[in-house]
Amino acid sequence: MRFLRSIPCRGVRLYTSLPAGHGKHVTVLGEQYPTDSMTNISPTIISKLPLRLHTQPSHPLSTLRALIESHFPSYAHLSSLSPLVTPHQNFDLLSFPQDHPGRSVTDSYYINKDLMLRTHTSAHEVEVFGRGETKWLLTADVYRRDEIDGSHYPVFHQTEGARILSADQTGMQEVEEDNARLTAHLERSNIIIEDVPHLSPTNPCQPAHDPKHTELIAKNLKLSLNSLMLQLFGGHVGSTAEDPLRVRWIEATFPWTTPSFEVEVFFRGKWLEILGCGVVRQATLDNSNVSNKLGWAFGLGLERIAMILYSIPDIRLFWSQDERFLSQFKQGEISTFKPYSRYPACFKDVSFWLPETSGLHENDFCDLVRDVAGDIAEDVKMIDSFTHPKTNRKSVCYRINYRSMDRSLSNDETNTLHAQVLSQLQDQFGVEIR
Ligand code: DAH
Repeated sequence: MRFLRSIPCRGVRLYTSLPAGHGKHVTVLGEQYPTDSMTNISPTIISKLPLRLHTQPSHPLSTLRALIESHFPSYAHLSSLSPLVTPHQNFDLLSFPQDHPGRSVTDSYYINKDLMLRTHTSAHEVEVFGRGETKWLLTADVYRRDEIDGSHYPVFHQTEGARILSADQTGMQEVEEDNARLTAHLERSNIIIEDVPHLSPTNPCQPAHDPKHTELIAKNLKLSLNSLMLQLFGGHVGSTAEDPLRVRWIEATFPWTTPSFEVEVFFRGKWLEILGCGVVRQATLDNSNVSNKLGWAFGLGLERIAMILYSIPDIRLFWSQDERFLSQFKQGEISTFKPYSRYPACFKDVSFWLPETSGLHENDFCDLVRDVAGDIAEDVKMIDSFTHPKTNRKSVCYRINYRSMDRSLSNDETNTLHAQVLSQLQDQFGVEIR
């Protein structure tokens, strides 16, 4: 199982450690919480929590959210659930195995062992189904510790969508009627779909479900999402038979759905992974107290789609307060971003011996760089690593690219930032700079 947006991790995975220096309490969204050995939420991340870009008028992420919502007019549109969830909500209720890597402090942000930042909007599925919602969309900010480059940012946005119906004749008739309507709509459109079977030995029905019902639900899921893809990408491709929109379905695995799928769209010469989805598992429905229902869920990342539709080249731009960025957009309109001049990049390397006992994870290093340099850190790459043949000590070298999107940085400023990175590395992790 993997999360979406899991572009393979570059470089070597180093082992875990937590930065020193957290106080007894941490204030998040105006509330104080006790810290413990799991606490790893950083000041930079805390500062992002109130921003909620998906609700800021005219922001590309807000327009994209509204566009998706307009495609599902009869669904409840939710966007104000707290980003603070328990690991139970984020993982256990969705049947994530105990040893899933997403649970580790190197991959997720913890306030303490009992509270974390949601890593995906699926964290709210059980709660929303449990409230009695049967057709809903939820757009929210989600948090994952990650590397630093033009397409990764530790905060991003997802839209979750779900539909459940009674697992009986009435429910199935509703699905069949909807399937007929959607099929007719798609037959009139310029879309080519590469499909996979709704069910297969490697993508099975759940024991508690009738395979005929599951087939109908999976078909409804696919038709609903194919037509969403037309809505999102149809303005660019798919307007003529010569230039159809190409969508491909792939078998996938998620702990809380089976069968499960991923959807890719062919855009400007490349297949792009757009979303994950599937038929909701009985365990998830049971946890939500809707055992007699059956349905589907999907989750998609907004930044990747917005970067494509608006031609936005760097994920940091979504957070820019620069008028040259913000003034380009109007709510409800997808326009092509006009890049303004980029300021010069400044590359600086840091080589150090890893601490022998505690270790240092690449994501710890990236969070430290973000805390010092904020969005001025454009890219962090490991460019070298080696183990000393005699002492067995391990040394790594990272290259940091400092570049502001809004102004030219002076040499003094980058030198100061880099010096701070070095001293924080020594103070927080006890590394030996080479
Ligand atoms: N939560 C998943 C992720 O972040 C995406 C996803 C996959 C959502 C399958 C779903 C689903 O609702 O059924 O990668």
